[in-house]
Amino acid sequence: MPNHIFITKKIQNFKKIIRVSSDKSISIRSILLASQAVGVSKISNLLESEDVINALKTIKKLGINYVKKKGIYHIEGFGLNGFNIKKKIKINAGNSGTLARLILGLLVKSKFTIKLTGDKSLSKRDFSRVIKPLSFFGVKIKSKNYKLPIEIIGSDFLRPITYDENIGSAQVKSCILFSALHTPGITVIKSKKSRNHTELMLKFLKYPIKIQKNNKYDKISVQGLNQFKAFKYNVPGDISSASFFIVLTLLAKKSQLTIKSVNINKTRTGIITILNKMGANIKYKKKKLYNGEEIADIYVESRANLRSVNCPPKLNSSAIDEFLIIFLVAAKAKGISKFKNLGEMNKKESKRLDLGVNFLKLIGIRIERFGNDINIYGNPNLVLSKSFEIKNFLKDHRVFFLSCIAALTLGGKWKINDKKSANTSFPKFLKTIKMIGGQIN
Ligand code: S3P
Repeated sequence: MPNHIFITKKIQNFKKIIRVSSDKSISIRSILLASQAVGVSKISNLLESEDVINALKTIKKLGINYVKKKGIYHIEGFGLNGFNIKKKIKINAGNSGTLARLILGLLVKSKFTIKLTGDKSLSKRDFSRVIKPLSFFGVKIKSKNYKLPIEIIGSDFLRPITYDENIGSAQVKSCILFSALHTPGITVIKSKKSRNHTELMLKFLKYPIKIQKNNKYDKISVQGLNQFKAFKYNVPGDISSASFFIVLTLLAKKSQLTIKSVNINKTRTGIITILNKMGANIKYKKKKLYNGEEIADIYVESRANLRSVNCPPKLNSSAIDEFLIIFLVAAKAKGISKFKNLGEMNKKESKRLDLGVNFLKLIGIRIERFGNDINIYGNPNLVLSKSFEIKNFLKDHRVFFLSCIAALTLGGKWKINDKKSANTSFPKFLKTIKMIGGQIN
């Protein structure tokens, strides 16, 4: 099976109802927390993508068993630090920064050295952001230049920390929270706003955690060493996967789309706020609360007259995985769109800020870049007819999805490589595109 696709036709108008893949952040968190719960947790609608399968393989290697029965994952935990290992082992997080950073927080009491590895992309990413706070807890970590592979050996004498998390990284915050679970006393994190699924899950599990919020920071206090019981969880749809279909609909002609049961937690919906500022009319229907998370059907229709946006940097963290696709909307909007402080984009599966800028240049859009700030000169009349080939060296799933949506809405003849990268987060992406009428060869 070739690992590339061709798209040579724009998508025709459509009116459809779809589901997108389950939330990746919540899927990984639910597996890792189930591995620390007492008893058998039951997780339904778990995302079956490579990042999540690597999370399952990781807990298995650490001695936690799971089975899938009638579509539901049953994971048997033995409480905090209930991993069962008898010698030095190696675990591989594949492409997943979330898995790699969060699992370290659960290994802080390990008696044996654990070696953590990852794929080519993950091996280029920074781990100083988690190594630093973990070492304050008293954990020993060996690495070269704070990159994978790294070795961690836990401690019996962990001490609680007070930590300022200034990046706005949910992975760092969650790693510290996981370490705090294993540490006596109260750990306090003053954390710049970022997705809050870990906190919401711990609350749902009735774990002693206190959250005080102000405009910029959340102050989170966690009392360590409390056991929690096994749980049931049904994972909702992923707004990050939905965002590609939202933009597909917005930029197509005379189309309407409903995306069922998507997580619309406010720490994730920056894309909706930004696109609505640009003139989209995206609505939530059938809103409900599920274990602290907000879920809704998302309704979107095509819009011909999109306008530029001056994106407030306070939305950056809640749209951090969506900027590539937001840039595509800016390319078709009237006026100059401005985005600031996007340095974190370059710390993802690939250097997404650099790639986004190159992508826009490739399709003929004028860009100004000042460090981590960019101005995009939109062209509402943008139509492509040339041939394009997208090489995706670090196999970044979101670069693959972006390329498909650009091809389906702007025209031109596209060869898009690394089709398999879709398996990282959204294995049924191409099937879903075909379902709404997109032609892929
Ligand atoms: C994630 C947090 C974000 C995001 C990533 C998933 C998570 O990373 O980009 O795709 O599940 O916690 P940072 O926390 O490093 O910003």
